[in-house]
Amino acid sequence: MIVPLLDLMPQYERIRDEVGAAISRVVEAQGFILGPEVEALEAELASFLNVPHAVGCASGTDALLLPLRALTPAPGDEAILPAFTFFATAGAAWNAGFRPVFCDVDPLTFNVTAETIEAVWTERTRAVIPVHLFGQMPPMAPIMELARERGAFVLEDAAQAIGARQQGAPGPARDGWVMAGAAGDAGAFSFFPTKNLGGFGDGGLVATSDPELADRVAKLRVHGGRQMYHHEMVGTNSRLDALQAAVLRTKLRHLPGWTEGRRGNAKRYEEGLAEVEGVSLPVTVEGNEHVYNQYTIRARDRDGLRTRLQERRIGTGVYYPAPLHLQPCFQELGGRPGDLPVSERLCGEVLSLPVFPELGEERLGIVVDAIREFYA
Ligand SMILES: Cc1ncc(COP(=O)(O)O)c(C=O)c1O
Repeated sequence: MIVPLLDLMPQYERIRDEVGAAISRVVEAQGFILGPEVEALEAELASFLNVPHAVGCASGTDALLLPLRALTPAPGDEAILPAFTFFATAGAAWNAGFRPVFCDVDPLTFNVTAETIEAVWTERTRAVIPVHLFGQMPPMAPIMELARERGAFVLEDAAQAIGARQQGAPGPARDGWVMAGAAGDAGAFSFFPTKNLGGFGDGGLVATSDPELADRVAKLRVHGGRQMYHHEMVGTNSRLDALQAAVLRTKLRHLPGWTEGRRGNAKRYEEGLAEVEGVSLPVTVEGNEHVYNQYTIRARDRDGLRTRLQERRIGTGVYYPAPLHLQPCFQELGGRPGDLPVSERLCGEVLSLPVFPELGEERLGIVVDAIREFYA
């Protein structure tokens, strides 16, 4: 039996009629750019995230870029972000005009902490971008305290973490929980198809409690003005398609159930792999709800294990094989091997296993057995 890392087909098959009706609603109205579908999605996601403002845009990358551009950085202004994340976090900071400053991460959660951020802080630090890697939030209370004390803007990269939440985080709480993307000054989300809430193409969203920031982001996504042919600033075209919004509105109704499915799979891996020597399982910190966009283990002889799983027709992913401070495009920033030892080590150890909601008991068992056998 083939066990793919991700299979979107079973999800589509279950919502085929619903999503088809949503798509034809847009096609019948012949309104494809922004408009009522996008406004409805923004309102529904603002409510889901418990924030007053949500602004749709063209991708998760732009959801990072637009709020950073709204800050109008001066030359030399720095943005602190983890070396162990997807490239877009750093690319957006760079393209917004910030100098990216890479920090290390905690080896158990793969996430930044207030301490790893503080270790690289300088007088030029103006923004911090904590990433909620693989679907779990970093400790937002101490991170916000540090940033508030020193006057820096905090943009949460919640691209992989829609629906994750944390107790005790600052921000608008519901029953004591603050949603990923609601704890910082703004949160960035991606609707890339592999995300927990994925569109039928690219899409993104900025969440914020700050009305002025929401207004600036909404202008920046349409060439810097709300009124046609009147431009208050130089923006770009980062509009969200109505077709994507209609698909995402349909899928949002299913998201809590799908997240439960991912959590159930994670629990099953925990039971099956807890005692396997050679494997460290992802740690969920108390007071956090993880949404497992990826189920990422650390593995002894990671590449050997990956080859064995491949032979058994089990798909895996390496997120990420190289830390960002050592990427060729950032060499001018002066990063050297050994600067951020945890990030560098993780790149050689991490392996993401299939965790999509429809995986099912049989395929989970195949993955667990293959890993146990490799280390036996
Ligand atoms: C952590 C992180 N940040 C940013 C992005 C960028 O999102 P997008 O691919 O929608 O531009 C992604 C997803 O690919 C991501 O995983």
